[in-house]
Amino acid sequence: MWRLARDGGELDLNSSYAYLVLAEDFASTCRVAVSGAEVVGFLLGYQPPERTSSVFVWQVAVRGDQRGRRLARRMLDDLVDGLPGVHTLEATVTEDNTASRRLFASFARSRGAELTWSAGLLAEAFPDGQDAEPRLHISPLTRS
Ligand SMILES: CC(C)(COP(=O)(O)OP(=O)(O)OC[C@H]1O[C@@H](n2cnc3c(N)ncnc32)[C@H](O)[C@@H]1OP(=O)(O)O)[C@@H](O)C(=O)NCCC(=O)NCCS
Repeated sequence: MWRLARDGGELDLNSSYAYLVLAEDFASTCRVAVSGAEVVGFLLGYQPPERTSSVFVWQVAVRGDQRGRRLARRMLDDLVDGLPGVHTLEATVTEDNTASRRLFASFARSRGAELTWSAGLLAEAFPDGQDAEPRLHISPLTRS
């Protein structure tokens, strides 16, 4: 996961330690996509303790040569299908991340769910000049 995030260059790179801890302690809300012996995609998520009927997707990434093959969509589907008590999926996405916005819109459409936005993390909250991260909410999540 760390290598994918580093090599892709689009995501904020967390420490390798952070990816390992999340994968161990939040395994039920994290996914990897594997091709042969290689990890070619990952999704990091957690259930906010104050909103246990939500799952928050922190990072999702697919290796460049594997994009456009529904890997990200399939990781989101698998995540939600494994969490029967979860009715809302949340994430934050910058204004300029078209691929990510389209991914979540496509996921919402396929689930027949509504996608709404809230303010999320404002630009002035970041000490390092990062762009604002509006928060999306996809609900209600139904299972087939
Ligand atoms: C965002 C990302 C994970 C999408 O992965 P992917 O496996 O290629 O996406 P999918 O094939 O599952 O596509 C799902 C939907 O998103 C759309 N989409 C994906 N990438 C797109 C792009 N670059 N431009 C426009 N639409 C895009 C697809 O067309 C599809 O929509 P559709 O069902 O309406 O056809 C991948 O581009 C990536 O790793 N980006 C860099 C990391 C990042 O920005 N992550 C998100 C923030 S945490």
